[in-house]
Amino acid sequence: MKVTVVGAGAVGASCAEYIAIKNFASEVVLVDIIDNFAEGKAMDLMQTATLNGFDTKITGSTNDYAKTAGSTVAVITSGIPRKPGMTREELIGINAGIVKSVSEQLIKHSPDVILIIVSNPMDTMTYLTHKTLDLPKNRIIGMGGALDSARFKYRLAEAMDCPSSDVDGMVIGGHSDKGMVPLTRLASRNRVRASEFLSEERLQKVLEDTKVGGATLTGMLGTSAWYAPGAAVSALVQSIVCDQHKMFPCSALLDGEYGLSNLCIGVPVLLGKNGIEKIVEIDLDEVEKEKLATSAEGVKATNALLNEIGAL
Ligand code: 2OP
Repeated sequence: MKVTVVGAGAVGASCAEYIAIKNFASEVVLVDIIDNFAEGKAMDLMQTATLNGFDTKITGSTNDYAKTAGSTVAVITSGIPRKPGMTREELIGINAGIVKSVSEQLIKHSPDVILIIVSNPMDTMTYLTHKTLDLPKNRIIGMGGALDSARFKYRLAEAMDCPSSDVDGMVIGGHSDKGMVPLTRLASRNRVRASEFLSEERLQKVLEDTKVGGATLTGMLGTSAWYAPGAAVSALVQSIVCDQHKMFPCSALLDGEYGLSNLCIGVPVLLGKNGIEKIVEIDLDEVEKEKLATSAEGVKATNALLNEIGAL
């Protein structure tokens, strides 16, 4: 199985590395517009093959999409990352055009490809890709909730002072500092509700720290994070390529699910060889429903900017 990753920057290269190390894809093609940059990253990664024990073939391409032909899955990380103090939504003006042209190129060479969108503002970029390509909606997936949930679980483990492997938790809603909905009510430590271990105040701090998890790292690193985003994407790719039907919160085009339509927003989905195999509608309480509805309003407001910038 061939996987393409567009954008050989920190997120794209980390994603390619994790896919290679997991050894479930025969080939990963890294694409970038900077001359020889993707080729260099691919060569550097290939030189870890005997050290990290993988057989995956990683190649690089400077903007030649013919080399991506026949990809089963393609990941779009291209575009500019945010700087400290910026919101993801502020990237729309530059990233919309990039995502639109990249997705058209990918489909041209891999008509059956499943697309995973990472570029921000991710929910809106995912929606734009649906509107641009008009593919079956199961084949376009936005990656945000898997990353946010990983950060949620990190904060829960930190607060409960327990191994991350003991923790479960999910973040739904928009992949934005204000729009995320960490489901603290359902968070658990070995199937025991986290609220048995943490006060309401401490759970609220976990929730708030989760929502700004990306911005916190951008402030520390001077640019967007890359290890956890890359790892989150690689988990989605593996569930698709290996037809695992794992459940992740992903940005999916809704048509009435959760009472929402005509937008892409983070909801639990099962990922398999067809991409989104099923959108899972879990029982939310009234507070969670209201938070998701408010988050959806924020995503739709960002989507409306696509018309203003002429992307739609
Ligand atoms: C993040 O939250 C890049 O949006 C991504 O780190």
